[in-house]
Amino acid sequence: MSAARLRLGVNIDHVATIRNARGGAHPDPVKAARIAAAAGADGITAHLREDRRHITDADIAALSRDIDLPLNLEMAATDEMLEIALRHRPHAACIVPERREERTTEGGLDAAGQHNHLAPLVRMLGGARIRVSLFIEPDVRQLEAAVSLGAPVVELHTGAYAHAVIDGDTERTDMLLARIVAAAEAGQKMGLEVHAGHGLTFDNVGPVAAIPGIAELNIGHFLIGEAIFSGLDSAVRRMRALMDQARQAGLAA
Ligand code: PXP
Repeated sequence: MSAARLRLGVNIDHVATIRNARGGAHPDPVKAARIAAAAGADGITAHLREDRRHITDADIAALSRDIDLPLNLEMAATDEMLEIALRHRPHAACIVPERREERTTEGGLDAAGQHNHLAPLVRMLGGARIRVSLFIEPDVRQLEAAVSLGAPVVELHTGAYAHAVIDGDTERTDMLLARIVAAAEAGQKMGLEVHAGHGLTFDNVGPVAAIPGIAELNIGHFLIGEAIFSGLDSAVRRMRALMDQARQAGLAA
C-alpha cells in the first residue's frame, strides 16, 4: 500500500533527556507531544529503554492517557517490556535491538537470527491488537524474517544513510539510499507496511520521503535539537512540509 500522505511520527525521547538532566518535570514530554500533534505529527514515538535514561514508565503512562495521537512504543524484546506494552496497549510497538552501552539504537534487529526469541513476543503483542513493527536494516533477509514472524510492519534503519550524508560521501549515500529504495519496494511486495527512521534531518529527509513505498517516518533527535533554535512547532512544521514536498515530487516523477 503506498500512502500518498506520508505519516510523521515524532520521537520525544530527548525532551525527557533534557528534563532528566535536572530531575524535575520540565520540559514535559506530554506537552511536547501536544505541540507536535498541533504542528502536523501523525503519531508520537517513545523508547522506554531498559536503563530509563530518557523516557520513564510514568511518561509511558502519561502519554497513553493524555495524548490523542497514536503512540508508538519502541521497546527491546524482553519480558519486562512485553508486560509494559500489554499493560498500556499502545497503538504500535516497534521492537528494537538494545545494548546498554550504546548511545542510540545503532543497528537493526536481527529478526532472522532471533526468530525463536521474537516469535512469541510478536504473537502476544499482535494478539493484544498492538501493531508490531520490527526495526531492521534494509535487507531482504530481514524482510523475509518479518514476514515469517507475522509482523505487519517493518521500520527500515536509515542511520547509515544519514551518516553517509553527513560525511559528504555521495557514492556511499547513493548506494545506501538505493538499498532503502529496494527494501521498501520488496517489503511492500511482501505485504509489509514499511516505515523508516533514524538520523533524519531537514537536509537528508527528502530522498527518503520521496520513496513511494514508505508509509511513515519516525524522527526525533534532530527535531528536538532544532526546537532549541526555532521552537518545536516550527521544527515539526518544516519537517512536515519537506516530507510532503518530497513525496509529491516522488509521486510526480
Ligand atoms: N526509529 C527508531 C526505531 C528509533 O530507535 C529511533 C531512535 O530512538 C528513531 C526512529 C528516531 O531516530 P532519531 O532520534 O535519530 O531521529
